[in-house]
Amino acid sequence: MGQKKLIKFAAIKQYENVLENPQAMPGKWNSFFEKLAIGPYPISLDELSVIKNNTTTNHSAIKPLTLELACGRGEYAVGLARMFPNQNFLGLDIKGNRIWKGASIANKEGIHNVAFVRTQIDQITNYFDTNEVAEIWVTFPDPQLRLSKAKKRLTHPKFLRLYQQFLQPGGIVHLKTDSPNLYLFTKTVIELFELTVITATDNLYETAFVQSNQWNEKLSIKTYYEGLNIASSNRIHYIQFKIDKDLPIAKDEILKELIAEFEVTETHDAKRERTLPKTEE
Ligand SMILES: C[S@@+](CC[C@H](N)C(=O)[O-])C[C@H]1O[C@@H](n2cnc3c(N)ncnc32)[C@H](O)[C@@H]1O
Repeated sequence: MGQKKLIKFAAIKQYENVLENPQAMPGKWNSFFEKLAIGPYPISLDELSVIKNNTTTNHSAIKPLTLELACGRGEYAVGLARMFPNQNFLGLDIKGNRIWKGASIANKEGIHNVAFVRTQIDQITNYFDTNEVAEIWVTFPDPQLRLSKAKKRLTHPKFLRLYQQFLQPGGIVHLKTDSPNLYLFTKTVIELFELTVITATDNLYETAFVQSNQWNEKLSIKTYYEGLNIASSNRIHYIQFKIDKDLPIAKDEILKELIAEFEVTETHDAKRERTLPKTEE
């Protein structure tokens, strides 16, 4: 492993705003962010109070929590934290050297309403209590184009069922991607499970969309991968939807058949799969 990566890994171990596979955190995130803002440090996770996010709780004391999945350097987590100081944001990713970037910026700027969890997204239900999360952003996740890898797509129903375990009723998921295939796949999932679409566009920055009432300032945040324009399409796809229905496992077989019918041609995505180095950065 390179020297630079080792230095970043060592740094995040000291950061209060980075947790690696933290245990016993469900229900504690509101208390965690209170401590992050004022100390004392180091924060003892065992001593944080658990707040049940149910109807009997005083909701005014609880700040909405938004996640950025596959956050990489965490541009969305940090950008949203700047925009909404009265809400809390968590970026999740497996790569510590990428998380280091966002966590370092937050530390430097004194932004205390954003933190990061280093983990596999598959483990996500270990970290949150029922109703603890208000919204999820999935930003430029790996499109996992091979059919055999469809279950690794972060908008596969397998993952949506995990998110549903801790999202508030009507909780919103945002997907931003440069991959037309991942966008189409996600739309197929949404239609099959009859979820509610709030906004969908295959060209986020076209003038008509930017000038429409569906545009908002959150959409202007740009991530590192967005800037790379790997798909060479110059088209960012965006879909905002609610996981507001049951997601019966029986329908996964139908999904498998539907996506097998997608013709995988020499799209930008196919090119991306061939040319993207295994370990970027
Ligand atoms: C293409 S990068 C996008 C990073 C960032 N969102 C951006 O737009 O610049 C995809 C990120 O997803 C992370 N990732 C992919 N699968 C993951 C998983 N199962 N669990 C955690 N992180 C994952 C990778 O480590 C990588 O940082």
